Amino acid sequence: MNAPNRAGWRPEIAADPCEDRAPPTASGNRALALEEPLIFELGAAGKCGLDVEPVPGEVLPALAKFRRRAPVALPGLTEPEVMRHYTRLSRQNYAIDLGPFPLGSCTMKHNPRLDEKLARLAGFADIHPLQPRQSVEGAFEAIAQLADWLLALTGMASVALSPKAGAHGELCGLLCIRAALEARGDPRAVILVPESAHGTNPATAAFAGYRVENIPATAAGRVDLAALTARLGPDVAAVMITNPNTCGLFEPDMKTISQAAHAAGAFVYCDGANFNAIVGRVRPGDLGVDAMHINLHKTFSTPHGGGGPGSGPVVLSAALAPFAPLPLVRRDAAGHATLIEEEDAADTAPDSFGRMTAFHGQMGMFTRALAYILSHGADGLRAVSGDAVLNANYVLRALEDVLDAPFAGSGPCMHEALFSDAGMAEGFSTLDIAKGLIDEGYHPMTVYFPLVVHGAMLVEPTETESRAGLDGFIASLRSLAERGRAGDPALKTAPHYAPRRRLDETLAARKPVLVWKER
Ligand SMILES: Cc1ncc(COP(=O)(O)O)c(C=O)c1O
Repeated sequence: MNAPNRAGWRPEIAADPCEDRAPPTASGNRALALEEPLIFELGAAGKCGLDVEPVPGEVLPALAKFRRRAPVALPGLTEPEVMRHYTRLSRQNYAIDLGPFPLGSCTMKHNPRLDEKLARLAGFADIHPLQPRQSVEGAFEAIAQLADWLLALTGMASVALSPKAGAHGELCGLLCIRAALEARGDPRAVILVPESAHGTNPATAAFAGYRVENIPATAAGRVDLAALTARLGPDVAAVMITNPNTCGLFEPDMKTISQAAHAAGAFVYCDGANFNAIVGRVRPGDLGVDAMHINLHKTFSTPHGGGGPGSGPVVLSAALAPFAPLPLVRRDAAGHATLIEEEDAADTAPDSFGRMTAFHGQMGMFTRALAYILSHGADGLRAVSGDAVLNANYVLRALEDVLDAPFAGSGPCMHEALFSDAGMAEGFSTLDIAKGLIDEGYHPMTVYFPLVVHGAMLVEPTETESRAGLDGFIASLRSLAERGRAGDPALKTAPHYAPRRRLDETLAARKPVLVWKER
């Protein structure tokens, strides 16, 4: 059962908890817990899932020199073998459709099937970015309606919908800020990033060529206002604040921060990826924000990470709106939605900083987001943030007697409950709790992030979990916390019931084996 595979790699198979009673199976499977080889191990030369006659002669003589001389080294499988391989693999995966997915900062929530259905309508799903504009006017109208909603919900002046993810949106916002500073002849070199910001913020600022300076967090897990205002000066281009922040807390000094930044000639970038905690309740435009990305794939439908590429629209203040990237969908004076490309920009968007993406996209995500917004309505969206915050506080209060909650004394959290590993028995840590959750049948929470908390466990239950679902999760986490406090040795070796035991995650990260080679 634990034989090396053809690549010479010997997987460590979890000990069968019933091993003393049940004999090993000849196949290595355990009922529907199926062992699955790599597709290269399954395949054999000469097998094919397609039944297509080879084309006689040279189809395109001009391309003859590119004809493949040796067979391509792909595994040969029949169609049923391919289907079974991927279906078996999919059964080894944890998914939001199987149970709660408490991954903090990632907002893994149920996304209504209605949105999926609408995104698959041929008029949205099958359009091509190079189609003549007049043949996709319905898509432009849908995009413009989504833009109208995003502006109403954020209280901002304009929105750039082309960025393809949250971090891409951050880059877009910073490039708008740079263009605005250059336009006024005042290029600046520094971006201030508080410790409570998401990790992509300093990475994006550095990628955009800025010098990043950290602003410390207070003991209450929020931006140190005094340190931030003291550092503002003529070299500071922007402050980047994540709100709600990565400790799951609202930054209440946002207006004061914006006023101080603006007085110093700097812009305010807000990481709005956690907008699901405040949607329908707080409009970032009212807080003095100049640019903010929204992860459509966190707040407005589309499973985070599971549904293909993301979408990170950036809402902009009036000061930054002229610098937004192309292409843009805008309404003309008659209210008609239209696409603005470089050839139209001289009249309509002369100050645009340029282009970030080949095409406007992501139509599937725009459609899901618009469907989500329209089916919830303004009141429903307000309820979304209310439920997200309520569920997180329910988890926080239910566990604070067994898990250290460093900021619980600062008042209610937003959409995420944050715990630390303080109070665990000697030698026990966050990793043991996370591995124990796998045995309990849950995906682990986010661990060791944010960095400001030792052994952080960030739990985001999201608004779509029922009270019964939360109670089940809480009971499991409570039992693991108690075992961690008591130093239960069986927790140290968890998971026991997963197809594999603890993997060497450091080696996997440092020396990933991404190519299969037959030995
Ligand atoms: C607060 C925050 N900011 C930025 C990001 C980056 O978004 P993306 O993964 O779409 O680039 C995330 C991702 O979840 C996030 O939670």
